[in-house]
Amino acid sequence: MLPVLSDKEFKGFRQLIFDEAGIHMSDAKKPLVSGRLAKRLAQHGLDTYGAYYQIVSRDAKERQVAVDLLTTNETFFFREPKHFEFLANTIVPALSGQGNIRIWSGACSTGEEPYTLAMTLAQAMGNLRFDILASDISTRVLATAETGLYPVEDAQDIPKPYRTQFCLKGIGSQDGWFLVDHPLRNRIQFEQINLNTTLPEVGLFDVIFLRNVMIYFNPETKREVVSRLMSKLRPGGYFIISHSESLHGVTEQLQMVKPSIYRKQGN
Ligand SMILES: C[S@@+](CC[C@H](N)C(=O)[O-])C[C@H]1O[C@@H](n2cnc3c(N)ncnc32)[C@H](O)[C@@H]1O
Repeated sequence: MLPVLSDKEFKGFRQLIFDEAGIHMSDAKKPLVSGRLAKRLAQHGLDTYGAYYQIVSRDAKERQVAVDLLTTNETFFFREPKHFEFLANTIVPALSGQGNIRIWSGACSTGEEPYTLAMTLAQAMGNLRFDILASDISTRVLATAETGLYPVEDAQDIPKPYRTQFCLKGIGSQDGWFLVDHPLRNRIQFEQINLNTTLPEVGLFDVIFLRNVMIYFNPETKREVVSRLMSKLRPGGYFIISHSESLHGVTEQLQMVKPSIYRKQGN
């Protein structure tokens, strides 16, 4: 018989993902938690969620596995394409006098967002230089992102000129897959960064993408995360969130340029 997640056990895991990642889960998320953790119980040969919680509490590696399972990682290439149009048509021309453009994709999941950024910049900037930091709390998604290898069906989200220029069709053992071209992969540095804690020294960025992650945070966590990121955005830099998110009451350092596109004051 499948183990049942009690209310008490659910509260334990809910507290854990909040403490670790800042992710707020309502009561409605109980089936999600039991469903996603069930296979770890089976792998450890456990018959209660409480026993699994004990392991997670004392073992940092297993805690990371639980965080990986409890985060939601849905993403795709050229998601919310207006952001990439704005990058190519407005931000790049404005920054073209500068030696190097730095962009941070702050919750990059399996990599489709930073690779979309790299394709957009490579095409818009000609020989100008750029580098991208792509980070996430989940080591599992970062491992996928670093391969740059995706099922061939996912390429349908990539407009044809980019697909032709930057994607290589897999052959042999990689049949059914495509690979993002090597020079583009070289421009991206993948790193595990938890936005819910003090950020590492990463320097200043011209643009920060923080899309489809704040929806999981409560207002206080949102304010803390955005405030940490503000210290990494140069004055005049752009901060881009999803159309389904809002920065209302979150910070006074940003001014809206267009819905979901903000700019930090200063030059
Ligand atoms: C739905 S995906 C968004 C991916 C991409 N930005 C997009 O818009 O398509 C949300 C990502 O946020 C990550 N995440 C959640 N909490 C985080 C935290 N505290 N720090 C860093 N990443 C976090 C998850 O692991 C997940 O990969």
